[in-house]
Amino acid sequence: MDTGPSPAANPTRTPTDTAASPWQRALDFTGRRVLVVGGSSGIGNGIAVAFRTQGAAVEVWGTRPSADHYAGDAGSDLEGMMYRQVDVSRPQQVLHQVRPERLDVLVLSQGTVAYGQREFDPEVFQSVVDLNLNSLMRCAAHFRDSLAACGGALITISSVGGIRATQGNPAYAASKAGAIHLTRTLGQAWARDGIRVNGVAPGLVETKLTRVTVDNPQRLAARLKGIPMGRLGTPADMAGACLFLASPLSAYLQGQTLFVDGGRSL
Ligand SMILES: NC(=O)c1ccc[n+]([C@@H]2O[C@H](COP(=O)([O-])OP(=O)(O)OC[C@H]3O[C@@H](n4cnc5c(N)ncnc54)[C@H](OP(=O)(O)O)[C@@H]3O)[C@@H](O)[C@H]2O)c1
Repeated sequence: MDTGPSPAANPTRTPTDTAASPWQRALDFTGRRVLVVGGSSGIGNGIAVAFRTQGAAVEVWGTRPSADHYAGDAGSDLEGMMYRQVDVSRPQQVLHQVRPERLDVLVLSQGTVAYGQREFDPEVFQSVVDLNLNSLMRCAAHFRDSLAACGGALITISSVGGIRATQGNPAYAASKAGAIHLTRTLGQAWARDGIRVNGVAPGLVETKLTRVTVDNPQRLAARLKGIPMGRLGTPADMAGACLFLASPLSAYLQGQTLFVDGGRSL
């Protein structure tokens, strides 16, 4: 008979939970360290808030000088989190960050897109790919040992654009396809280090990245027609999948990307 999620996947329990079953404890992140790169706004911030709610000590990285610079922004709640300004498209800024002895969860939610056909310009193409793909590897490599020290989970945020052509955005689509395949490859390579690597590919979510679509009623209506569930996703929808991927509920999942898209990719 199945007795619940594997305890080996969840080695650092607090003494207070001993009465609860492994299933009940699975989403309790008390005592865990979580870093969300790109956690200052949008989807990443929703993910950071979810881990905070579940008891984790959460650090987020963003581009502004301090947490105060996000005050009043819709979709940005940094209460009780440690904030650092790190431009992950600059290798030295990542390399200079202290590696903690252990890191339970690393979420890589940084990303950008260039509208107006600009991604067909090779220089713009390169800068989008550098942030959406190269910086994932940069951050993952930097924290590999900290994740390995505690059987941690690495979670990439890619996109449905990684498996569908996105008209006008060759860099976005190519970089997100790369992120999905990087997730598979790191999953294969780092399993032996005890690191689980998985990802979430969001569908359309209202954030500052997608304002150009959601603020345009005609464009929004057209996009909604392509979503079987008939609604946009929310940062909380993505956060739920991330909690699952970081928890022992997904202990035997490796190298996979979950499409959390209301059926858009079907
Ligand atoms: N929204 C969607 O419909 C959708 C769909 C599929 C995939 N995604 C993916 O989801 C992820 C989050 O996007 P979002 O929609 O939540 O957009 P967002 O609100 O603009 O969030 C992007 C995050 O990345 C950070 N970031 C940007 N450039 C950075 C840099 N050079 N160094 C460090 N951090 C940087 C941003 O920091 P600041 O807050 O300081 O700007 C922000 O925290 C992205 O990978 C995106 O491609 C989004």
